[in-house]
Formats: sequence, structure tokens, C-alpha cells
Amino acid sequence: MPRPIGWISTLSDDGRPNLAPYSQFNNLTFDPPYVMFSANRKADGNSKDSVINAEQTGRFVWNLATYALREAVNITAEQVPYGVDEFERADLEKEPGRLFDIPMVKASPVKFECEYHSTIRLPANPPMGTVDIIIGKVIGVHISDDVLTDGKLDITKTMPIARCGYYQYAVIKETFAMVIPGNNEITAAGLEGSRKRVKTETARQMQRSQSTAGLHEDNV
Ligand SMILES: Cc1cc2nc3c(=O)[nH]c(=O)nc-3n(C[C@H](O)[C@H](O)[C@H](O)COP(=O)(O)O)c2cc1C
Repeated sequence: MPRPIGWISTLSDDGRPNLAPYSQFNNLTFDPPYVMFSANRKADGNSKDSVINAEQTGRFVWNLATYALREAVNITAEQVPYGVDEFERADLEKEPGRLFDIPMVKASPVKFECEYHSTIRLPANPPMGTVDIIIGKVIGVHISDDVLTDGKLDITKTMPIARCGYYQYAVIKETFAMVIPGNNEITAAGLEGSRKRVKTETARQMQRSQSTAGLHEDNV
């Protein structure tokens, strides 16, 4: 199955940058937006570096893994000793975060600054023994103007990669639209991920039901 990639940048407690891809990654909801990545433990039973850093500093950044950056994504997956800077190994320029001091991948067109929320630890079989699922709240979104068309993020310009089975990847180059039939306006706004529309549609429906109730009272 194609899975989106969480290209996660973090800092160690003593300020050493870290970057690694996680395809057991997804967004969880939209208001406020939460994301998660799931890290298998290392063979020695210890948590992966991204997990340690996110838990210790309370911060991480999600960077969009694009087709143009695919080789760099792969290089940053190599398991290297704690504290080694994968930005440097993959020859990636850093961009300072706006809200936090966590470095972001400058060449990635979409980035989320995330506040650590919690960890779910799932029991797993030896030798790993545990899976660490990190959940973070997105509190800052960066989108490059270069990947917008008419003010909306244009996936044909970002060309994200997804991880399939084995060593296979997919690249998203085209999309198609489908609207779910029969949805009311609030549900539709939620599906679009538009917090603003959910609020205005909810207010509109409440107003409508209040005025209908008023009409009924007048008729009593
Ligand atoms: C595309 C891609 C996706 C990956 N997804 C995961 C994943 O979901 N979970 C995981 O534990 N490791 C995953 N890995 C392996 C990690 O990236 C690798 O173990 C890395 O060294 C972890 O780095 P860290 O210890 O600095 O966090 C993936 C590797 C690649 C290339």
C-alpha cells in the first residue's frame, strides 16, 4: 500500500540536528491538525533518534518528501549513531523554524512545525519489543509560493513520494476530484479540512434551526 512519508526533523537535547523518514506516518485530524509517526525500536531495544528527540524537546518538524528530494530522503534513512547530522550527510540545506529552533529541510516545499503531544507504545515481538508512536499537534504550516496554483496547494507541483512494499515507491503526479454524494454542508466542509467553513456552516445551520423553532412557537 502506498504510504505518505513523514520526513521528520528534530534536535537533540544538546542541539544536534536529526532527520529521518517514517512511512508509518499520517495526519490524524484537522482542527487542530495532529500528525503521527510510528517508529519501530532498534534491534537493541532502544527508541529511534527521532523519538528520543521529539520526547525530550517537545518538538519536531514534518517535511514533505518530494520526488526531487528522493535520494536525500533515502540517505537520511541510514541508521547512524545518535547525534550524527543527517542534513549534512545528505547535503541538505537547513532552514530555521519560525516557531521553534528545529531545523527544517529548506528544499522541501511544505513543512509543519509540530508540538509533541504524546507517545503511544505498542507491544511488539522481539527483538524490537515495542513500537513508539509519536503524536504531535501542528502549530505552524509553511507552504512555498512555488507550489501554489490559484492560492491552493498544487500536488502536481510538489510531486510527493509514497512508500509501497519492498523497495518500491510511488510518485503522485496527477489527481482527480470526487465529491461524496448527499453530504450536508458541515460534513462537506470537514471533508475539505476547512475549519473556517465548518464554523460558518454550523453557525448558519443553528441560526436556521432557531428561526424555524421561533416559527413553530408563533404558531402555537
Ligand atoms: C521511506 C522510508 C520510510 C521509513 N519508514 C519507517 C517507519 O515508518 N518506521 C520505522 O521505524 N522506520 C522507518 N524507516 C527507517 C528509518 O528511517 C531508519 O531506521 C532511520 O535510521 C531512523 O532514524 P532516527 O533513528 O534518526 O530516527 C523508513 C525508511 C525509509 C527509507
